[in-house]
Amino acid sequence: MSHQLVIVLDFGGQYNQLIARRVRECGVYCEVKSYKTPIEELKKMSPVGIIFTGGPNSVYKDDSPTCSKEIFELRIPILGICYGCQLMAHLLGGKVTSAVTSEYGKTETYYDKSCAIFGAEDLPEKAISWMSHTDYIEKIPDGFKVTAHTDCCPTAAMECPERKLYAVQFHPEVNHTEHGAGMIDRFLKNVCGCVGDWTMEKYAETAIKNIREKVGDGKVLLALSGGVDSSVAAALLSKAVGDKLTCIFVDHGFMRKNEGDEIEQAFAGWGLNFVRVNAKEQFMSRMRGVSDPETKRKIIGEEFIRVFEQEAKKIGKVDFLVQGTIYPDIIESGTGDAAVIKSHHNVGGLPDHVDFKEIIEPLRMLFKDEVRALGRELGLADVLVNRQPFPGPGLAIRIIGEITDEKLEILQDADYIFREEIARAGLDKNIHQYFAVLTNMRSVGVMGDGRTYDYTLALRGVVTTDFMTADFAKIPYEVLEVCASRIVNEVKSINRVVYDVTTKPPATIEWE
Ligand code: XMP
Repeated sequence: MSHQLVIVLDFGGQYNQLIARRVRECGVYCEVKSYKTPIEELKKMSPVGIIFTGGPNSVYKDDSPTCSKEIFELRIPILGICYGCQLMAHLLGGKVTSAVTSEYGKTETYYDKSCAIFGAEDLPEKAISWMSHTDYIEKIPDGFKVTAHTDCCPTAAMECPERKLYAVQFHPEVNHTEHGAGMIDRFLKNVCGCVGDWTMEKYAETAIKNIREKVGDGKVLLALSGGVDSSVAAALLSKAVGDKLTCIFVDHGFMRKNEGDEIEQAFAGWGLNFVRVNAKEQFMSRMRGVSDPETKRKIIGEEFIRVFEQEAKKIGKVDFLVQGTIYPDIIESGTGDAAVIKSHHNVGGLPDHVDFKEIIEPLRMLFKDEVRALGRELGLADVLVNRQPFPGPGLAIRIIGEITDEKLEILQDADYIFREEIARAGLDKNIHQYFAVLTNMRSVGVMGDGRTYDYTLALRGVVTTDFMTADFAKIPYEVLEVCASRIVNEVKSINRVVYDVTTKPPATIEWE
């Protein structure tokens, strides 16, 4: 794939992925690379531009992340952001020191509109930028000119156009910076000369061609969960190799109401071998008497692999296994030593259990929004492309305590009503994940003239960008009222509905 490439050189900033996404949104392909990447390797990649990210350190400390000064001699345009801006100043002979007062948050910023990245009609001379820094540039390097300032910070941006070096102390990638996306776009198009030809249409074309060449007459196997990533991977592979692809969809019975059928229907007519294994009884029999969340997750994970393996054996020798790994997984795997809060079950991870020659990861360079765009491009059904995240163990971890057929049915029905009402209220695009949880608690109620003693159902809705932190969704009371009323009236054995108003942290999104 020969696209113009921009490198996002990562100095440990919290917004590194966001910068990369902004670049892609401008139609420009980019890759995130560690600041430790040797300069020779960077040169070999022939980037048309480089962006230095922010980072939590101070450039003047001995052990702080840095890069070879040679990078400035390559005649490749560079945009330094926050720490990257300070690093550029530091390495080129300027002076960076600790400020008396740090700048944090929305800050009024004055722009010099003669600068190539600011000089647009729509950018006023004074606008809000998002600042987050303690150090500041006391003296800019020789040959540079200040192009923005704030009331506290004399150098909020600087440039040396002759050397194509630009830097901003604030974060243009963050939405709070007014016209920030435009600044990145102008750096890419006007300074780096990017044409903006990174589209999912072209990506699909090239990926299909490459996969076809690689697979030849081989057999390809994919574990389909119905989630966005595995579904888009299946669509792409089936366009590339047709019936050489077999997708195994293990239906553990803990899917939402009608979901198993929807997934099956979405792939009807795609010309691939679609195997749906209805394994509900098998899973249920192993869940009897189990109420501990981690045990539930473990059993389902193990059983899943067992069923998948049995099915895979029937196909005979497989040459390629497809995994739906996406770019954030790759970026994050570099630093993955966080504590295990829940053992996530992911249908992507099966390589130890199935014999195959090679792994194909057709989405490994794509962000989630690009994966969805690709799915749309390939003509995949909306229910799959726009599907909200759904945990591998499914409703099994949304039924607190022991799982029974009855509880499963209650939850499926209640969850269906909740989703229906959220969609009816037009909130489904704004709430990133919403679902019902069947608590194991019963309480007293009154219905008609009689006493009831039934289950309490919890509703949960969250807004989030990365699912690592989340806020509860502020669903209007009127909508909640309709949901509660319909659920207690239409679903047997529920007499009370509550709404979960905790953020993550301290709570997690799922209850188990
Ligand atoms: P928590 O509950 O940890 O969830 O705040 C964060 C996100 O991950 C989803 N989730 C899972 N996804 N396999 C998955 O693929 C799992 O086992 C799993 N458990 C939780 C959860 O729905 C939320 O989007």
